[in-house]
Amino acid sequence: MTAQPYIPILYGRRQDKALKPRHAQLMETLLPTLAVPDPAKGKIDPKALFPQAEEIWLEVGFGGGEHLAWQAAHNPSVGMIGAEPFINGVGKLLVHIEDGGLDNIRIHFEDARPLMQSLPDASLSRLFVLHPDPWPKKRHHKRRVISAWFFKEAARLLAPGGILRVASDIPDYVRWTLMHARGASEAFEWTAECANDWKCRPEDWPQTRYEAKARREGRTPAYLIFRRK
Ligand SMILES: C[S@@+](CC[C@H](N)C(=O)[O-])C[C@H]1O[C@@H](n2cnc3c(N)ncnc32)[C@H](O)[C@@H]1O
Repeated sequence: MTAQPYIPILYGRRQDKALKPRHAQLMETLLPTLAVPDPAKGKIDPKALFPQAEEIWLEVGFGGGEHLAWQAAHNPSVGMIGAEPFINGVGKLLVHIEDGGLDNIRIHFEDARPLMQSLPDASLSRLFVLHPDPWPKKRHHKRRVISAWFFKEAARLLAPGGILRVASDIPDYVRWTLMHARGASEAFEWTAECANDWKCRPEDWPQTRYEAKARREGRTPAYLIFRRK
């Protein structure tokens, strides 16, 4: 499968309702102190972002940030980067950061893909994409975050042994992800050995808002874990 370059258009909402006053205030005061430099201005050195970190992890499309904040709180030696263009989600993450006193998170309030391109080879140990927008219509499949391009870039970014976690509650998106993982099988192996390995969420993987919504609506997620060879 050839990795066509991604379409440099961001689909989906940047905002829904007006920001709550606290969120708006944190966007002005806290976000500038945590923002990742603009990838358009040059390569990004994650060691400069997190001088003390033992590992760097990236979450693409963190939504309300509950998974990212949990991982940061439970893994204080890790530098967590989160990329999310949806302002209401960023506002929620900033509340988690302030309330939890978290000091190991940096935020890219934008499309994750230019950020991914600006990070060095083998700079990540973990990469998360949880419940990406499904874009169910066939003519919209090119909008999906998971793509041949994504797997190629993930292969470049993850160090050997590094882990890519993808969750989806949409069976077609699960198949789509596995198809692209197969296309990238020189770089990745799917770690599942039995059905429970993808049907059960590991303990170090907290439920996200979208997963809770999917379960309420009767959809069962799959938890896909791939290891960089
Ligand atoms: C369905 S929501 C899931 C949010 C969260 N991961 C969860 O499980 O609750 C998908 C998220 O991906 C974000 N997203 C879509 N395209 C993106 C991109 N190119 N880079 C970063 N985030 C993106 C959307 O803004 C949205 O918040």
